[in-house]
Amino acid sequence: MKYEELIRKEILAIKPYVPGKPIEEVERELGITNVVKLASNENPLGPAPSAIGAMQAAAAGIHIYPDGGCVRLKEDLSKHLGVSPEQLIIGNGSDEVIKLLAEAFFRPGDEVVVAAPTFGEYAYAARLMGASLVEVKAAEGLEHDLERMAAAITQKTKAVFVCNPNNPTGGMKTRAEWEEFLEQVPENVLIVVDQAYREYVEDPEYPDGLEYLGSGKKLLVLRTFSKIYGLAGLRVGYGVGDPELVAYINRVREPFNVNLMAQIAARAALADEEFLEKSRAMVRAGMDQINRGLEEMGLEYLPSAANFILFSTPYPCRELYPRLLQKGVIIRPADIFGLPKHFRVTVGTEEENARFLQALREVLAEVG
Ligand SMILES: Cc1ncc(COP(=O)(O)O)c(C=O)c1O
Repeated sequence: MKYEELIRKEILAIKPYVPGKPIEEVERELGITNVVKLASNENPLGPAPSAIGAMQAAAAGIHIYPDGGCVRLKEDLSKHLGVSPEQLIIGNGSDEVIKLLAEAFFRPGDEVVVAAPTFGEYAYAARLMGASLVEVKAAEGLEHDLERMAAAITQKTKAVFVCNPNNPTGGMKTRAEWEEFLEQVPENVLIVVDQAYREYVEDPEYPDGLEYLGSGKKLLVLRTFSKIYGLAGLRVGYGVGDPELVAYINRVREPFNVNLMAQIAARAALADEEFLEKSRAMVRAGMDQINRGLEEMGLEYLPSAANFILFSTPYPCRELYPRLLQKGVIIRPADIFGLPKHFRVTVGTEEENARFLQALREVLAEVG
């Protein structure tokens, strides 16, 4: 008997996640050094410095299991966010919170509404549980079409995911757009708003998911320490929702899902406002630098509220990608999002951005 006959048939519909290429792999494969990675929307300034000190101090205690309830991190977060600890579910990255929600709520026959293009974990979680994915393409452009997404909700819809700002486009939905959407979603549908890049957004029209928690809708707000806080390697993110919703998600959580270092580092990073401001200033300047560079090359890009930019060239991204790697620059080919001529580039330091722009200029000259 083949494994294919033994496996749950839902799993056959899952495409394995394609990770960004690690720097070491590119250096080893191509025999080059000094590779720049602007592919996974990480913080190029590193981790929040306060987190490093806190982890060093805690290293001698890692023979002890972590606090399975993340009690102190929840206490800090609840003060920081103005919510109660019972409203918080902490995950091994917000990826895990998405999966936990799906495990607790989705089943075959359910429909899950997502935008296209958007972050791939929502589709993965839906497929994992055998729910049907309803992908809603925008009528124009590449941003979430909230009107169409609301219209795609049926009797079978279990959940709808809104990524704001969206990955990979960087587009932001305004307060007015979000509120209009929220009004149209029935009370029996779970609404997940993913705010992974929230701390980068500076537009006063940005709606903070937390403000809508008491609105009578079944809302889960997702946040992460992987992006602006610079803790992607530790894996810690969280969801905020109604205590009843959180308690149900908590039933499927493994006892020690968030490791000890992650909890300690997240608490330290949360208090590091200075680092956040420095990171925002870097992205503000870097965004201008990259956008100007793309314009000079005559390339189109989308305005972004996050720390990355989606741009296109006249060529298939897979044709340019190996050439960029040869020049020591890793960015994200966007064919994985169904966009064969686009790339997503993370805003880096001034020097990294210059390296990326120079490499792209050279590659376009080579193929043009
Ligand atoms: C929109 C969005 N949500 C969630 C995540 C996952 O974050 P975490 O590292 O907390 O799992 C990412 C990471 O790329 C993301 O882009």
